[in-house]
Amino acid sequence: MCSFDVGNRNMFLYKKIAKPVLFLTHPDHAHAIISRVGQTLGKFYPARAALTASFVHEDSVLETDVFGIHFKNPVGLAGGFDKNARLTHIIPAIGFGFMEVGSVTRHAYNGNVRPWSVRLKKDQSLIINYGLKNEGVDIIYARLQKNKPSIPLIVNIAKTNNPAIKGMGTIEDYVYSYKKMEPLADIININISCPNTGDGVLLCEDMGLLKNFLDALQETYDASSYKKPIVFKLKPDITDAMLDEILSLVKKYPCVKGFIISNLSQNRGLLSHTSISTIEQYAGGISGKPIKDLSTSLIKKVYTLTKGTYPIIGVGGIFSAQDAYEKIRAGASLIELITGMIYEGPGIVKEIDKGLATLLKKDGFASVADAVGTGE
Ligand SMILES: Cc1cc2nc3c(=O)[nH]c(=O)nc-3n(C[C@H](O)[C@H](O)[C@H](O)COP(=O)(O)O)c2cc1C
Repeated sequence: MCSFDVGNRNMFLYKKIAKPVLFLTHPDHAHAIISRVGQTLGKFYPARAALTASFVHEDSVLETDVFGIHFKNPVGLAGGFDKNARLTHIIPAIGFGFMEVGSVTRHAYNGNVRPWSVRLKKDQSLIINYGLKNEGVDIIYARLQKNKPSIPLIVNIAKTNNPAIKGMGTIEDYVYSYKKMEPLADIININISCPNTGDGVLLCEDMGLLKNFLDALQETYDASSYKKPIVFKLKPDITDAMLDEILSLVKKYPCVKGFIISNLSQNRGLLSHTSISTIEQYAGGISGKPIKDLSTSLIKKVYTLTKGTYPIIGVGGIFSAQDAYEKIRAGASLIELITGMIYEGPGIVKEIDKGLATLLKKDGFASVADAVGTGE
């Protein structure tokens, strides 16, 4: 007779029962269904307790301190899954060590022309084109105030998707959201690299505007009690020249404490199993397996160029403990995911935690922190 441990059983049940049903619906609807179910379950203590018993894996080797914050494990939910802070009770119960809310913007945005997401099953990827759909910072702030998660919280802030907001307007837009959310967050993630807005040039591509923004951010940081760590989210398709420019600019601003690497990719050439007609039909950035190596090599580059002085949160194509471990050994202190969970189910978090603990011990590391940046 074959026997499953609980982690494997969770993944088996998702893959054999929940996923086939969910994957019959359009991914935009599947995400809405999952969010509604998660929000409802999250309200009830017995449901949270039952999920915690089944999905959470604890091991002291996974505990880590980054940015002066304690994390029970290094696996987090990346930005974009819980855009409106509706899942803050359920996410800790499925084993995540921290979570992002957002991207949150100054003004609400109803989303780009649909579809917002397309499954590329053969590539284990998604095309994402929400375009920073969210309810706006004031509403999300009010919800979050009543529903702070029990794990460290990163609030992901972006510029409102409205090309009429530009120049100094861009800076005011970001700073408004930063000031509003800072008191509730443990870490603020400034998303300077969303590929799906009507803005054309991203903030990470406009060094003049980025400098003005950093001036405003540092001034706010210095003049106020706002002292939470700020991290910048980079895109994976960055050129070496652009990366050098960003790093030499950022190092002049002590309020920036780290990086999240990386966002979605605009490089469709990474898709090797998807038809050209599908690739050409849909707008948006790609996630999942095809961007795994690209994001890992950018983590390594930034870790090396900055000599490990900036903590990095690694994200992009993590589907297994081995994928997470590669990112840690490339220089990530924490890791995040979304697409792996969509394809493998919520049990993936426990599987990664368990596998990571095994890999760390096998290689003689006493903690996650000991393994950061030790790769070839
Ligand atoms: C459904 C979905 C929505 C996303 N929305 C956002 C977002 O609003 N802001 C953001 O910074 N990144 C967003 N992302 C990008 C993810 O945070 C992450 O950087 C990227 O998907 C790579 O990780 P993955 O391969 O584990 O999904 C989104 C990704 C997905 C799959």
